[in-house]
Amino acid sequence: MNKPLRKAVLPVAGLGTRFLPATKAMAKEMLPVVDKPLIQYAVEEARAAGIEQFCLVTGRGKTALIDHFDHAYELEATLRERNKAETLRLLESTTISPGSIATVRQQVPLGLGHAIWCARAFIGDDPFAILLPDDMVLSDTPCLAQLAEAYRETGGNVVAVTEVPWEHTNRYGILDIGHDDGRLVEVKGLVEKPDPKDAPSNLSIIGRYVLLPHVLMALSRMDRGAGGEVQLTDAMAKMIGFTPFHGLRYEGKRFDCGDKIGYLEAQIAFALKRPDLAPQVREFLKKYPGDEV
Ligand code: G1P
Repeated sequence: MNKPLRKAVLPVAGLGTRFLPATKAMAKEMLPVVDKPLIQYAVEEARAAGIEQFCLVTGRGKTALIDHFDHAYELEATLRERNKAETLRLLESTTISPGSIATVRQQVPLGLGHAIWCARAFIGDDPFAILLPDDMVLSDTPCLAQLAEAYRETGGNVVAVTEVPWEHTNRYGILDIGHDDGRLVEVKGLVEKPDPKDAPSNLSIIGRYVLLPHVLMALSRMDRGAGGEVQLTDAMAKMIGFTPFHGLRYEGKRFDCGDKIGYLEAQIAFALKRPDLAPQVREFLKKYPGDEV
């Protein structure tokens, strides 16, 4: 029987340079889409997949992320005095219960693989999910829940994948594809950010993973890969052949919120999914004729 998936690691140590000056004194994961910060979407998606234990891999200047999931007593007391029950409920949904959130610090920017290795004590001997909060997925079934289901089916590593334009393969981890049933894709190989001319396919990994703890063994070697960083993709590649490894073509639309255009598109797409906002958003979009969303 597969061990149940209960843990998630959220790497949030990045500097957010693509969003300067907004991120000069603020964590990029606190940027809101409509009215919720990116990090909260990630935590809610994880919860919907059965995750109970969270580990944030943080760095300097990220305390707001931890505070966001804590009680805000003064604010709560004021809202209670003013009988703002609905707003209070909104705040309650942001807290994580005592003992269920841990943080570790990634003191040096050595890459995503290194960030995950920093969470090794939290991961222990259990399967775990990784969510990169920059990547948002709008879908009927939350993306991580789809991966968790595939993990229960296959008992091995599962990464969320989607086809990208060939000229973008150098931005992603790319799959070398084995058996492909259209939904689940057997992973034969993995390459981090290959040049389009060297890429084995245009099927790329987005920021959702369910991994077995064995990946920590490969990570502990601290081999440097693309960009001189310790790459998670390279460590995952070392597990191929030893444990089942699949890509899942998830249902949904992904937004790269680490990029200005992706972030702006996410604002519109998520607002259009909100019954309280959609009619007005549709109305104001008419003021920009010819611009399809
Ligand atoms: C990371 C991973 C890459 C993956 C991507 C998804 O890259 O290294 O394999 O495809 O996330 O967003 P980064 O975006 O941190 O450069």
